[in-house]
Parts: sequence; C-alpha cells; structure tokens
Amino acid sequence: MTEHLTHVTHPLVQHKLTLMRRKETSTAGFRQLLREISQLLAYEVTRNLPMTTERIETPLQPMDAPVLDGKKLVLVSILRAGNGLLDGILELIPSARVGFVGLYRDEETLQPVQYYFKVPQALEDRMVIAVDPMLATGNSSVAAIDLLKKAGATNIRFLCLLAAPEGIARMKEAHPDVPIVTAAIDERLNEQGYIVPGLGDAGDRMFGTK
Ligand code: URA
Repeated sequence: MTEHLTHVTHPLVQHKLTLMRRKETSTAGFRQLLREISQLLAYEVTRNLPMTTERIETPLQPMDAPVLDGKKLVLVSILRAGNGLLDGILELIPSARVGFVGLYRDEETLQPVQYYFKVPQALEDRMVIAVDPMLATGNSSVAAIDLLKKAGATNIRFLCLLAAPEGIARMKEAHPDVPIVTAAIDERLNEQGYIVPGLGDAGDRMFGTK
C-alpha cells in the first residue's frame, strides 16, 4: 500500500454509511451495518497482502495455488469503538491475532493516557491493522500507533470509517509511514471535537450507551 490515504468510494460502502449516519438508525441496525461495512473495508485494507503458493491437489490435478504468506496478521482495536470494526473483520480473517489499546483523555492536559495495552508477540514480523471508526483529532490514533511502534510494530495500517481533515493531517505528520483507509472524509471537527456532519458518538451508537 503506497498511498497515505485511501478513500473507499464503493457504492455499497457509501450506501451503508449513509444508513449509519441517519440519526433514526437503531443501535441494532447501526451495529449490523458497521459489521457489514467493516468487511468491505477489510477487503480494501488487505488488498495487497503478501502471497505465496502452496502445492495442492484439486479433484482433477495438482496445482500451485495462491495462499497468504508470512505470519498471521494482527488486528488492534482502539477501545472501545474499535471493537465494532473488529468483529466483522475477524469473521473474514478468523486466524488473525488480536490486540487492544485503551486510552482516555486527561481532562486537564487533554492528552491521551494509556489504561490498557495487550498485543500479540512478534509484532515486528507481522502486519498490524489498527482499527477505530472515527479519526477525529487524531490524538488517540497517533498515541495508539506510538505504542504499537514502541512494542515493535513496523508495518502498520490504520482503518477507520470516518476521517476529519484535522485527524488525517495529524496522522500524516506523526506517522507518514502508516497508510489510512477510510470510507469518508468529512468536513471538519466541531468545538467539542466531533466530526461533522459525522454520525455522532460511534461508541454510544453501537453500544446504546446514550
Ligand atoms: N468520536 C466519535 O465517536 N465521534 C466523533 O464525531 C468524534 C470522535
């Protein structure tokens, strides 16, 4: 993946995203759509995974057939909203390893503070896909990638549903080596740090906590 930013404009992705943005969409509907869209986005973010061949026998004859190469890839959910993307992708790539990064925002410094970090071993040998539906200010995404790099990851991609220009710029500045895949690039952030037009608080909408 050479592009820093990939905007997935596929009609199915765009249609499902519109349904998710609608304020009247239920929690169950939102969650189901997120699961579906995560699989379409996974298709894009894994498009150029390394491949090799394996000798197999079909009922008719032997052949060298393509299979994924290298160590199992790692999906890292940035808590808590990342879990909404994680479930669908795991259905598609059931053998993926899974990590979690938990960050909260210190109300005084406004900086992200780590409260949980658990990732698989040998990160340096694996492709790591960090997932968070909303790339807003970019503060937590940048901090999460910082932690993953500190833990040894060198081949990281970032997958989100919506991105604000501010978050994209922040990520590009801090982590120019980490390609971003997103279903939409929205207008801006509002004063509260929400993406507009956006879809609201992704965690609240998927877990029904509001
Ligand atoms: N996180 C969300 O859930 N929504 C936003 O709009 C921004 C950050």
